Amino acid sequence: MPRPLSDMLASRLSLLKPSPTLLLSSRARELKSRGIDVLDFSGGEPDFDTPDPVKQAAVKALSEGFTKYTAVGGIPDLKEAIREKFLRDQGLNFSPREIVVSNGAKHSLFELFQVLVNPGDQVLLPAPAWVSYPDQILLNQGDPVLVPCREEDGFRLDPDALVSFLTPRSKLLVLNSPNNPTGAILDKKRLERIAEIVLKNDLLVVSDEIYEKINYTSSPVPSIASLDTALRERTVIVNGVSKTYAMTGWRIGYAAGPREIMEAVDTVQSQTASNPNSIAQKAAAFAIRSGETFFAPMLEEYHKRRDWVVTAFNGIPGIRCAPPEGAFYVFPNVSGLLGRSYKGVPVQTVYELAEFFLDVARVAIVPGTPFGSPLHMRLSYAASLSSLQEGLRRLSEAVALLE
Ligand SMILES: Cc1ncc(COP(=O)(O)O)c(C=O)c1O
Repeated sequence: MPRPLSDMLASRLSLLKPSPTLLLSSRARELKSRGIDVLDFSGGEPDFDTPDPVKQAAVKALSEGFTKYTAVGGIPDLKEAIREKFLRDQGLNFSPREIVVSNGAKHSLFELFQVLVNPGDQVLLPAPAWVSYPDQILLNQGDPVLVPCREEDGFRLDPDALVSFLTPRSKLLVLNSPNNPTGAILDKKRLERIAEIVLKNDLLVVSDEIYEKINYTSSPVPSIASLDTALRERTVIVNGVSKTYAMTGWRIGYAAGPREIMEAVDTVQSQTASNPNSIAQKAAAFAIRSGETFFAPMLEEYHKRRDWVVTAFNGIPGIRCAPPEGAFYVFPNVSGLLGRSYKGVPVQTVYELAEFFLDVARVAIVPGTPFGSPLHMRLSYAASLSSLQEGLRRLSEAVALLE
């Protein structure tokens, strides 16, 4: 008898679970395919189309035959656009060898965990945290350690809490500002205190800045790498074009940091992905150079939606929602609804509440537990204002049915 295929999968896979956000969107999609009118606010994807001039840059690349393998870590023109971007926005000067373009920020993060994590190394994750970090770390045999951030503190990492989680095995700190799912931004003062801890304890930092531009405050989002040269030498910044320029499907991200680390990333990429898509690289270079003009109206729209959604959630008894400073998610506290019942069946957890909202309101929003909070849910407002208005109306009606 041959061994069953399920026994032949690599044992490290037992640590992984499918992305909970993608799971909920696939349930919503399945309901939609059966003709059921579901409003899906579970995904982290801009609803805007990629700007036309960006598409034109890709068409031009295609018609000019730019369809071959490229340099592993990205074409020189895109690296130059990224170099200029870091200099312009963050005062950081990276050489081309310190930049590696990948197939999305998610890919860059995975490559970084590959080159930085040894079995048993602890990776500190301020929580709530994006759901893919722990699984990517586990897949690379690291040990993800969640450092809880308090809601009363705007879900910002408390440096004292960070210290209390340090052990001799702590190696890497992942920062994500603006944060998915809370929208929290780490201000410069707080970053300076975190930076002291990083240097004192010989940590490295991966700073995921994918939502950098989706910022509703009046000042730019500071990066820990910009604080001083010592931090620049301990930090790798991850960013990409997916969220800022509505280019999720193009799969272009990048990482920039100290040369030794980035050369290792380049080597891993050379043996795995070879290079990011040639045509998408041309489009990304165009977007990064001239994207501010397309991006401004999108930001204005996100801002309007954020204000509307926050007010609407706060109008629902049992829900509290703080205005996020960045990204395109709200993370309302729904603890006031837990323990109530629908038709005699108690709704005890945010998972059950998500099911209830999907079944009764036909609205998909994600439970906060996999992000690190069992009292919150995440709604993405990367969706039209009219659909958000209809969605919040349905949620409010469904909540009124809970006893
Ligand atoms: C915090 C965070 N980092 C990285 C990514 C991945 O972005 P990309 O599309 O560039 O892989 C996402 C996407 O949801 C995200 O929320």
